[in-house]
This record gives sequence, C-alpha cells and structure tokens, in this order.
Amino acid sequence: MSGSGPLVISTWNHGRAANAAAWEILSTGGDSLDAVEAGARAVEDDPAFTSVGFGGLPDRDGEVTLDACIMNHAGDCGAVACLREVRHPISVARKVMEETPHVMLAGKGALQFALDQGFKRENLLTEHAEKRWRARQGNEDFKPVANVEDHDTVGVLALDASGRLAGACSTSGLAWKMSGRGGDSPIAGAGLFVDGEVGVACATGVGELAMRGVSAFLMIELMRRGASPQEACEEAIQRVARKQEIEDAQLGVLALNRDGLTGAFALREGFTFATSNAVLNELEDSRHPAR
Ligand code: GLY
Repeated sequence: MSGSGPLVISTWNHGRAANAAAWEILSTGGDSLDAVEAGARAVEDDPAFTSVGFGGLPDRDGEVTLDACIMNHAGDCGAVACLREVRHPISVARKVMEETPHVMLAGKGALQFALDQGFKRENLLTEHAEKRWRARQGNEDFKPVANVEDHDTVGVLALDASGRLAGACSTSGLAWKMSGRGGDSPIAGAGLFVDGEVGVACATGVGELAMRGVSAFLMIELMRRGASPQEACEEAIQRVARKQEIEDAQLGVLALNRDGLTGAFALREGFTFATSNAVLNELEDSRHPAR
C-alpha cells in the first residue's frame, strides 16, 4: 500500500483501538514515539483484549506476565520481559529506554524499576482470565491455537508528519506459557525493529518463530537493500516457513518504510491489521501463502 506520513499501522482487530489512540497524536503533528506508546496503552488498558496488558491470559501457574518493547527513530530501545502487576509495560519500556543505560529489564528487577518510577501495582488477572485458566486445569496440551487471542501481540508502527518512525509492541505472551518464558516482543530485532533511515517492522503470533527468524530485523535489512515493505514481509514469512516447523502455528508481520509504504503478510489466513492516515481508516485481512 502507498501513502505518506503521518500514518499508523497496527496488528489484529485490536489495531483499530491502537490506531485511534495513535492517530489523535499523529493527526495534530505529534511525535511518532508518543503515538505508538499511546496506541499500545489503549490496548493494554482494555480487558476485552486478552493477549495484552490488563486482562491478559496467564501462564500455567496462573500469573499474568507482560513483555513489551519500544523503539524510536534514532534506534534507541527499551524493553521489559516477564513484568508482573503493572498495567502499562510499554510505558515502563519507554522509561527503561529514557532513564537507564540498559535496553531490557526483566522479572523482579523490571517490577522494582517500575515501582521506583511511580507506576501503580495492581492485580492484572481478571475474573474472565482466571475462569479460563481454571477451566483448563488438567489439560496438558499447551500448543497455541492459531488466530485466537492466545498470542496476539499488539504491534504499532508509525510515521509522523516530520518523517520520524517509531514502533511499539506489547503482549501477555502465549497463553499458558511456562513460567519465566519470554517471547519475541521484548527482543529488538525479533518482535520489533526500527531504523529511522529505512523503516519499522514488527511480528505477532508464536514468538518462538520470530525469535529464531529474527524476523523484524530481517525485514529492515531487506528494505535497506531495496525490498518494498510488502516484499520484505513476504520474504520474512517465507523464510520462517522454509526453515522452521510451523505446523498450524500463526505468525504475522507488518512493515512500514520511511516513504509511508506498508506491507503485511502471515503464515496462514486469519491475521488482520489496521491502517490509518489522513484518507484511510481500515481493517484488512493480511495476505498469506496459498496452502
Ligand atoms: N508474539 C507473542 C509471544 O509469542 O509472546
């Protein structure tokens, strides 16, 4: 798709909520970093989205643990992994980027840092999520189901009116994951990558596939060498399909380049994404290889 900035593109049906929040900032000349953070926060806040933030489905032990990453135009990056009891991991990730010499904080240290920064501690396990967790006790089948909310990271990619790119992603990770499991979302290069001279890309779905494929970084490098965002997305997905066991797993990717061109592709049908700019506000089905 073609377009120029400002523009925002976000993963899945919850991408609509993300875009609405991001567009409020982008449409008034705001910064892409603020826009992607606001987009991710909108999804983190809504318990109806059970794969992100408050209301996210827990791990096998019934604990909600969150992963998130944010990157700016200059390539600065902040991330949190396995963060408990804080509703907005994306904002903690931004604080990691802006207030520490590090890129990622995990587990207890991430929680302590968040509390030191003034974030509120709260129970993120909603009644609905707890009920679903209880209902599956005794079920030892932990294979993620494609296209259900068990793995649906919100990825938000934006280009602002000044030509600055940014990206954010946030998730409660795979539902029923092992305790301590981190996914692709907090790992720069796997779930998200930004190069202000090239573009921004993200992945969603079964994170292990994107981690092994370093999918977000791969898309940036393909675009750097001349691929369109759509070509980069297709190659990243085909690479995963060629090199890894995908069975019926889902992986979806989005890319946006500095000219405002976008791409989307997925391993199989069912991946949706939302695009908003001055003339467009649309939810679409991603293309996928014929299977
Ligand atoms: N992509 C989300 C996860 O695997 O954690």
